[in-house]
Amino acid sequence: MSGGIPDPVIRVRGLVNRFGSQVVHDGLDLDVRRGEIIGVVGGSGSGKSVLMRSIIGLRTPTGGQVEVLGVDALNASEAERLRIERNSGVLFQDGALFSSLTVGENVQVPLKEHQPGLPETLRYELALLKVKLAGLPADAVNKLPSQLSGGMRKRAGLARALAMDPPLLFLDEPTAGLDPIGAAAFDRLVRTLQQALGLTVFLITHDLDTLYAICDRVAVLADKRVIACAPLAEIEQLDHPWVREYFHGPRARAARDTDAGGRTAEASC
Ligand SMILES: Nc1ncnc2c1ncn2[C@@H]1O[C@H](COP(=O)(O)OP(=O)(O)O)[C@@H](O)[C@H]1O
Ligand SMILES: [Mg+2]
Repeated sequence: MSGGIPDPVIRVRGLVNRFGSQVVHDGLDLDVRRGEIIGVVGGSGSGKSVLMRSIIGLRTPTGGQVEVLGVDALNASEAERLRIERNSGVLFQDGALFSSLTVGENVQVPLKEHQPGLPETLRYELALLKVKLAGLPADAVNKLPSQLSGGMRKRAGLARALAMDPPLLFLDEPTAGLDPIGAAAFDRLVRTLQQALGLTVFLITHDLDTLYAICDRVAVLADKRVIACAPLAEIEQLDHPWVREYFHGPRARAARDTDAGGRTAEASC
């Protein structure tokens, strides 16, 4: 699938986001490379979710340029906007499943929207496939979100994000609220899917274990922009107050010491 996909897959330049007098982003630049898992970190309220919403077209930024899959996203035609949407799977911070629909029906929502001509049985089969791909048992397909554990709901959200076989996956705090074992399993799933399907993953997280376990590069949001975007080893060396506190506190040491994916309860609480 990577053949026709440009590199960088996402290119953000001079992004500005303001809410009234509050400036969230002021000249933010970011490149996301094809095939990488990029971890996006920053303090609470630093603008991680707003950045994601600006990239996927849910928010029109105050200024700047956003290019997704080679398309000028802020000046896109309807057809181009749909192309970006179809090629982007999104797992929102709160999961955002429709509570009155079963997991299978939730996964079918994007299929109905983007491929309305698909026969119903095929749509069901595809939904079942994605549910299994996301590591859920087959019988989860007929359950309501409220009948699932938090970890299973995240997987259901992931199944829906993968419904259209998108080359680009956006995950907003996917392991928040999961216990350490569930979070580690979700990390492994993301890495496995990224490798098997050749995905590019934009992963917002505050979970240090996730960063150490699966991220190829890390983008740090601070001072209203991306102050650095590099492999973890480089980020750790940055002389910046937020970076020092975040990457050199006791939780960071625990995450580093447990190595790829071997998270400890202490590091994840
Ligand atoms: N729709 C909105 N209206 C007003 N303020 C908003 C809106 N969305 C986000 N903000 C503000 O923008 C800042 C960044 O938000 P967000 O991107 O959600 O932070 P985080 O990095 O925690 O994901 C916060 O101060 C938030 O209150
Ligand atoms: Mg957020």
